[in-house]
Amino acid sequence: MACIANIRHFMPRNSASACSPTSQTSGHTAVVGLQWGDEGKGKIVDVLTARHDVIVRYNGGANAGHTVVAEGQKYALHLIPSGILYPEKTCVIGNGTVVDPEKVIDEMEKLRARGIRVDGTNLKISDRAHVVMPWHKEQDAALEEYLSSVTAGQRGSLAIGTTRRGIGPAYSDKVRRSTAIRMRDLLDPEYLRERLRVICKLRSAELEALGVKAQPLDPDAVTDRYAAIGMQLAPHITDTVFALHDAIAEGKSLLFEGANAALLDIDHGTYPYVTSSNCSALGIPAGTGVPGCHIHRVLGIMKAYSTRVGGGPFPTELLDETGDRIRERGREYGTTTGRPRRCGWLDLVAVRYSTMLCGATGVACTLFDVLAGFEELKVCVAYRRPDGSMTDRFIPDARGLEGIEPVYETLPGWPESSTPAANRNALPANARAYLERVEAYLGVPIEMVGIGPDRAQTLVREPVGCG
Ligand code: IMP
Repeated sequence: MACIANIRHFMPRNSASACSPTSQTSGHTAVVGLQWGDEGKGKIVDVLTARHDVIVRYNGGANAGHTVVAEGQKYALHLIPSGILYPEKTCVIGNGTVVDPEKVIDEMEKLRARGIRVDGTNLKISDRAHVVMPWHKEQDAALEEYLSSVTAGQRGSLAIGTTRRGIGPAYSDKVRRSTAIRMRDLLDPEYLRERLRVICKLRSAELEALGVKAQPLDPDAVTDRYAAIGMQLAPHITDTVFALHDAIAEGKSLLFEGANAALLDIDHGTYPYVTSSNCSALGIPAGTGVPGCHIHRVLGIMKAYSTRVGGGPFPTELLDETGDRIRERGREYGTTTGRPRRCGWLDLVAVRYSTMLCGATGVACTLFDVLAGFEELKVCVAYRRPDGSMTDRFIPDARGLEGIEPVYETLPGWPESSTPAANRNALPANARAYLERVEAYLGVPIEMVGIGPDRAQTLVREPVGCG
């Protein structure tokens, strides 16, 4: 018996955190972008936060960004989940993320200055998340500069068009292991110093090779700076895997918030024009330690049209006045970098693929109001390959998408309305028909329709779920 008691000590507080039928009723949800990012996840997460207890980031870093408007105040967040604006919620930055600790401290301080509580009980950061160090941003920028000067025939520049937030180099170090730093290392200055002695030496040489002219990195100075950061963040750094399983066992509901989006997934996106993490729903188990069987509802977020920032294939891109009109109506400029976004028609081939990949049980269609006022609208339902053959299966590879022509279906538009619809049935008939065509093609229901930037401008239908 003593043995069993000891074993239970290491288990989550209540063994119901296993994927048992009882745990299936607690209603954990994932929210993921189904396109190339910037689908307006922030607003949907904000709507769903009210119904969940713990909000969890599982991938990416400060390359993501969302602006939330709460009680007339605007908050721009990159790493801290917007759930922090609700005093009774817990926010978790999971082990699958790469954390720029100075950015987190900056976000924390800005929130506190506006009266928002941020402490070790409502913001937990995984001790196993990897740290974005200053040289990661320098490496990212230097590599992009170099690649933008290299062209490969018709394909143009080889630059990825990254956010230059050090994401790729930080994940590269995670995989390389010997040159990585995890959040827990910031709490142990002597261990940190030992690692930094080697890392700074190697990194100085690498930066020089990339043409970055700087003083050699001083391991003692870097240690002092990062150990001080560690002390500041110490109340937040914890084993979030056990914290999440404890929360599940206590009957709390979790909301997993994906950063970036499925078509930027390192394994399943338009490689190599992707980010460096598994940003589809497939990243949740590895990035949090919570197995997939706990996720009962996956809400995929899809803009009513398509956008993309940075390089890479974009079959339905519009390089004409219609594209400009979408950009202006949708205010399509990056939150993180301010870059104008590339705009185009809705690519249903791509979204059906990411719906399948993420196991989306429903879709939220955002920025639907942007489409009002067009005489007619197009949706891409197939791809024509350069040899003339057709496919309705997405090709998750940049080279594979070369020369692909979108095959469109044309749908009638609807006029701008002066009175916002109170529910989906109150939308103009052509607007309803557009949504129904999308649902029929994707094979999942559209549970939410965004008709304006405010939290209240969301038409909601009850979820279907899979649990
Ligand atoms: P990185 O994540 O900064 O390495 O950038 C890799 C690619 O992903 C670039 O094309 C970025 O523009 C894109 N990207 C990364 N995060 C986001 C996002 O949150 N929204 C849109 N694009 C993103």
